[in-house]
Amino acid sequence: MSAYELLQMERDGAVAIVTIDRPEKRNALSAQVRAELIAVLDELRDDDGVRVLVITGAGDNSFVAGADIGEFAQRTPLEQRAAMTGRRVFDEVAAYPKPVLAMINGLALGGGCELALACDVRLAADTAKLGQPEINLGIIPGGGGTQRLPRVVGTGQAMRLILSGEIIGAAEALRIGLVDVVHPATELRERTLEFARGMAGKSPVALRMAKSAVRAAAEMPLSAGLQYETEAFITCFGSDDKREGVAAFLEKRTAEFTGR
Ligand code: COA
Repeated sequence: MSAYELLQMERDGAVAIVTIDRPEKRNALSAQVRAELIAVLDELRDDDGVRVLVITGAGDNSFVAGADIGEFAQRTPLEQRAAMTGRRVFDEVAAYPKPVLAMINGLALGGGCELALACDVRLAADTAKLGQPEINLGIIPGGGGTQRLPRVVGTGQAMRLILSGEIIGAAEALRIGLVDVVHPATELRERTLEFARGMAGKSPVALRMAKSAVRAAAEMPLSAGLQYETEAFITCFGSDDKREGVAAFLEKRTAEFTGR
């Protein structure tokens, strides 16, 4: 039985699929959902049997419809500040030592779009819709949207979405780079899992170093980023996985990576 009330977690080989399971509220991120997401990230972090995570939403029309607006109604600024400090799901996903894929099966609004933005690759159904509609509530994105969205789609498109609250479809999201891949809705799960399984067959050491180095690009000047890349490359060079990957290539066989 699942240890989580508002999440489902399943395994497909070395891929873990985490489904936010609150469809009657369009999978809105309540405090409990956030706490359970942190708990599942903790559970899977040191599990060597899990190499790639996929995050999605239950039901067929919503990934995550945002922060739980009901919780906003009564909170004072101080209470909201308390809710926003401490461990934050978005930052933990972005810094997670394994790839995290967003499987966007429907609406990804507000905190849902921000959750997707924190993930490493965004794969969307052709029926998905994305946006940052917080402006309509008299607030702004507070889960990283004002920072991660411009880094993903550029300042102009981020301004357009955040200042207008406009919700866009999957094709438009693909055009501006907000999602990376679009699949027909009926094929999204299988195609995403195929992609994730392929990634799970790579070296966990190299995956971790590659993610960390690409993330560093958003944090550092080019010269420091290039230095970071060199150090990450050298770290890979000392791994069993590098010896195995190179030997397997030369011996014309498939590499068996252990993550060491
Ligand atoms: N927080 C809390 N509850 C939410 C929610 C959110 N972000 N999004 C949806 N819900 C709830 C609705 O209040 C409703 O609850 P109820 O049945 O108790 O009345 C339930 O989910 C279903 O929503 P409903 O609007 O009836 O479904 P829909 O399919 O017609 O529309 C949305 C779905 C997502 C388009 C619409 O609910 C919406 O605009 N939600 C808010 C999106 C938003 O502004 N997100 C940013 C928040 S910062």
